[in-house]
Amino acid sequence: MAAFSTSSSRPYHIVIFGASGFTGQFVVEEVARTASEGPKGSLKWAVAGRNRAKLEKVVEQAAEALSASSLLQLSFLQVQYGAYVGIGGISNIFKLVFAGLMFFFLVKFSFGRNLLIKFPEFFSFSFFSKAGPTRKQMEGSSFRFIFLGEGYTEGSDPSEGKPNGKIRTLVKGPEVGYVATPIAMVQAALTMLNESDSLPNTGGVYTPGATFAKTTLIDRLNKHGIQFSVL
Ligand SMILES: NC(=O)c1ccc[n+]([C@@H]2O[C@H](COP(=O)([O-])OP(=O)(O)OC[C@H]3O[C@@H](n4cnc5c(N)ncnc54)[C@H](OP(=O)(O)O)[C@@H]3O)[C@@H](O)[C@H]2O)c1
Repeated sequence: MAAFSTSSSRPYHIVIFGASGFTGQFVVEEVARTASEGPKGSLKWAVAGRNRAKLEKVVEQAAEALSASSLLQLSFLQVQYGAYVGIGGISNIFKLVFAGLMFFFLVKFSFGRNLLIKFPEFFSFSFFSKAGPTRKQMEGSSFRFIFLGEGYTEGSDPSEGKPNGKIRTLVKGPEVGYVATPIAMVQAALTMLNESDSLPNTGGVYTPGATFAKTTLIDRLNKHGIQFSVL
């Protein structure tokens, strides 16, 4: 089997995200212990997390536990991930709290559970129903996801200051559950059929991003109403 080689844009074989966490410390030790089993006998690896001081401490502990001072030369990458959800205004917060509390109490009793099953519209402000949304409701719905990325531009050193690069991307499209999902599924299947040469050719489980990175899936989705753009 071919060995994976590193490059200037992908300098590491393995990056341990969350290395400063409880589990992360053991992963760091295990990778350090087995680094000689990497491609060509030398694994290129780095630890990543939000706080450089915490990462340094984990690496120091691993160096001590394994009596391997060479670990102190390891690369540190600073990474932070955050997910935010907008719920569209203060009135929705009240609705959510009210519906949440009602749900919390009703599910405790069989009488309450029966009421929820019988009248889902009433107890969810029409958010849930047995019938699913009508075509008219679907036509009136759409979705927008905004991805905000902040980090260090190519060549800049994270230890020398605050992040100096930002990117904002938007994905938007029609109703997400029953209109956009079939479009995405069908285009993914057509891409696999038409562009098998551009898919990864070794086995394993891939994320959609890795599977379709070299295909025209994004162009196809743009043409079919799910639009990707950099803002
Ligand atoms: N056998 C298993 O499969 C197994 C066993 C145990 C745990 N786990 C899983 O392993 C994961 C870690 O568990 P843990 O107990 O080690 O948790 P933990 O001690 O709380 O560690 C969490 C790690 O994630 C980092 N982190 C948290 N929020 C982040 C953010 N927004 N952006 C970037 N980094 C962030 C933390 O960095 P900071 O130091 O900066 O806070 C820390 O390094 C969990 O998903 C857990 O379910 C799996």
